Amino acid sequence: MTDVAVRRTSRRVGSIAESATLAIDARAKKMKAAGRPIVVFGTGEPDFPTPVHIVAAAEEACRQPRMHHYTPAAGLPELREAIAAKTLQDSGLEVTAAQVVVANGGKQALYNSFAALLDPGDEVLLPTPYWTTYPESIALAGGVTVEIATDDASGYLATVAQLEAARTPRTRALVFVSPSNPTGAVYPAAEVQAIGRWALEHGIWVVTDEIYEHLRYGAAAESPYASMPVLVPELADQTIVVNGVAKTYAMTGWRVGWSISPRDIATGIANLQSHSSSNVCNVAQAAAVAALTGPQGDVVEMRAAFDRRRQTMLRMLNEIDGVSCPEPLGAFYCYPSVKDLLDRDLSGQRAATSIELAELALEQIEIAVVPGEAFGTPGYLRLSYALGDDDLVEGITRFRQLVHGSR
Ligand SMILES: Cc1ncc(COP(=O)(O)O)c(C=O)c1O
Repeated sequence: MTDVAVRRTSRRVGSIAESATLAIDARAKKMKAAGRPIVVFGTGEPDFPTPVHIVAAAEEACRQPRMHHYTPAAGLPELREAIAAKTLQDSGLEVTAAQVVVANGGKQALYNSFAALLDPGDEVLLPTPYWTTYPESIALAGGVTVEIATDDASGYLATVAQLEAARTPRTRALVFVSPSNPTGAVYPAAEVQAIGRWALEHGIWVVTDEIYEHLRYGAAAESPYASMPVLVPELADQTIVVNGVAKTYAMTGWRVGWSISPRDIATGIANLQSHSSSNVCNVAQAAAVAALTGPQGDVVEMRAAFDRRRQTMLRMLNEIDGVSCPEPLGAFYCYPSVKDLLDRDLSGQRAATSIELAELALEQIEIAVVPGEAFGTPGYLRLSYALGDDDLVEGITRFRQLVHGSR
């Protein structure tokens, strides 16, 4: 025994919060496994299995000895080529394979991007509501998040005027995500272009997260994907595009994402990854090649199912007294304001905050939703519509009964 107090976690790691979305998901799944009829609206992943031809490509890869060994840290050459070709085809952005670094999901690609760009104290503009991981990832990389507030009234879209008002000499980067998690908002091309021009004019880097690019519906599905460095070509030299196979191909567990950046940044990211995680699992990379180069019919089918559920959820939510939700045009989330439900009688109970409302919903009516606090905006809930149609109707019906009582 010694009296010396041993310092525990570093300040950096000690300050990270557990991912609220993953925590709620884990709790709901545990309650479900214990036999409770929980309807889970908390999940941020497609409920479909990965398409069979992709799984078959992985099985085949398992049998190739080349896949049993280390491969280049930046990714399998054939996958980097496939990503460059896919990017040109889907968004019109011309890039070389050398600009692509394959990472362990979009999440690692984002962290790599922030680590490559930020020095201590550099400011990063981040519209709220934001996906839970961004501020933690920015902080881990030494950056300081500057929030740009948006709300349901503005359709959760940040404006150039708001960005300009938040700009300081320390502003280094903007995080731009369209379609958005958690709101499902999709920026019109004219807005994407205006924001891109503003970033170009002020020498601000853009980290643009395109992971939901293929999940667009209604009016947003009528035009091609609006990628910022395509609409503002001069911006490409100060842009990092982040993308991955997780959401489009129901491949969240396979952990394949990527960044596309100018050569000098890509080299830095590849070096960083060579010392942190090395290559992504080769079998998963082979599966990603099959996803990007194979038939796309499953993507069309999954998108149609999401669109159907989106319309059902939006209609049912807006029929509930005190709930108001703008139409989400992308991803697989509704993000209603529930401010009018707070401090109100809900079948004999009350919730003062959206966290309390989410707790009440889980315990009393057995539906799992994520409170807006997880995304920097109290007073809202995030509901994923990546679940079966019948479960969806059952869950929202329970929510309506909680609010309306026996009416
Ligand atoms: C906006 C956004 N970006 C990136 C990711 C990361 O996806 P993955 O790491 O599974 O590729 C997610 C996942 O929820 C997301 O919602």
